[in-house]
Amino acid sequence: MGGRVLIVDDEKLMRISLESQLRKEGFYVKSMDNAIDGLKMVKSEDYDIVVTDLRLSGMSGLDFLKEIKKYNQDIIVIIMTAYGTLESAVLATKEGAYDYIAKPFSTDELIIKLQRALQHKNTTAEVNRLRREIQDEFEFSNIIGKSEAIKRVLEIVKSVSERDATVLVQGESGSGKEKIAGAIHYHSNRRHGPFIRVSCAALNREILESELFGHEKGAFTGAVKTRRGRFELANGGSIFLDDVDDIPLEMQVKLLRVLQERMFERVGGEETLGVDVRVICATKKDLLEQVKAGYFREDLFYRLNVVPIYIPPLRERKDDIPLLINHFLKKFVSQYDDALPEISPDVLGILMAYNWPGNVRELENVIEHAVAFSKSSGITIETLPEYLKKVEIRRDLLSMDLSDKQAISLQDALTEVEKKLIQWAYQKTNGNQVKMAEMLGIPRTTLRNRLIKLQVFE
Ligand SMILES: Nc1ncnc2c1ncn2[C@@H]1O[C@H](COP(=O)(O)OP(=O)(O)OP(=O)(O)O)[C@@H](O)[C@H]1O
Ligand SMILES: [Mg+2]
Repeated sequence: MGGRVLIVDDEKLMRISLESQLRKEGFYVKSMDNAIDGLKMVKSEDYDIVVTDLRLSGMSGLDFLKEIKKYNQDIIVIIMTAYGTLESAVLATKEGAYDYIAKPFSTDELIIKLQRALQHKNTTAEVNRLRREIQDEFEFSNIIGKSEAIKRVLEIVKSVSERDATVLVQGESGSGKEKIAGAIHYHSNRRHGPFIRVSCAALNREILESELFGHEKGAFTGAVKTRRGRFELANGGSIFLDDVDDIPLEMQVKLLRVLQERMFERVGGEETLGVDVRVICATKKDLLEQVKAGYFREDLFYRLNVVPIYIPPLRERKDDIPLLINHFLKKFVSQYDDALPEISPDVLGILMAYNWPGNVRELENVIEHAVAFSKSSGITIETLPEYLKKVEIRRDLLSMDLSDKQAISLQDALTEVEKKLIQWAYQKTNGNQVKMAEMLGIPRTTLRNRLIKLQVFE
């Protein structure tokens, strides 16, 4: 495992011997005899590790360390100290040095320290990257949409984030419930605490209780040791109860108590535990209907429904589709290419016309598919999944967006449909009226009359 190492020491022999031995081990090595030149190197080349003596003429090793850290936190600094100056080495670690090594030392000793430092650097970089990714995922700027509906949702999210109010997010599958829940947590002052997700539908009913509240050793067969539940794990943060309507009635009482008193007992436990947690729930169902049907406790419903957030299905906020397409194109294309591919107008037509039963998740999958199959010609109909290709003509032709209409004249709608069908036949036959009449199953004279009356091509 190589790495880029800069050595700063005023003893020439030391530098020469370290340089050659580390190179043999596969490191890229340079060395300098003073900190001022060392700092120039740090700024002009890209080093993973700087190994520096503390006692240097000109700028001291300690000041060098501070300057490096000011320039780039991620560069690892290892201090070399002469025997008997351990105190200054300790001081250096307080200033951000990763490790120190006492002179005289063997090259092997240094190599071990270098390898460990590199490993540390890689894991920290990975952790930071993952953390950034998670943060980004829930950034507001990453909740895409400009429809009135999404704007309203975001306003509520912003206003409730800072408070601890319980939130109930409702929406169809794939509409973005988990995304919204995450945004609430990561914008609250609990963001440094845990965000614990529980899928109430996925968990077997028997284990749900112990999953939520934990259990004591011996509480049931198989409970070989005490286990903390998700509520305890979420302490100081937020808990996201997905598909909350699936919680069985008997357990709803226990949940109600946590919500009211922030207290519970582990399964088989005597001790009452307190927990500091913010509760966010999600459901695909109409929870009030569930209450009326007797599946869900009314008192629990009111406890959960303090701040309701309804995410409308994608087909009711088609304004968001072009933005989402762009967002997902960026997401999936960046792995292959810098430029975003062109989308052909007929593809856009299909994506706008389709009714998206799987909502944003389905759109995301479609774009991923299209990007994977796209060539230099960009996103064309051929790149779409089969079922969308088939849906094209029917949807394109007859679908009508009625979402924001209060009333519609049947006569106008029928005329509109008739016009579209005639245009469709016209395109298919290149305007051959004999064939058009055949396709539409009407006499040619009727077709001609319709063409004139509807002013299809004027
Ligand atoms: N407004 C949005 N902007 C960007 N991405 C979104 C948006 N809404 C949803 N997504 C993405 O769509 C996918 C599905 O969203 P999410 O998992 O939040 O849906 P859900 O409502 O929890 O679905 P389910 O009911 O199936 O659990 C995720 O990849 C999410 O990042
Ligand atoms: Mg979900």
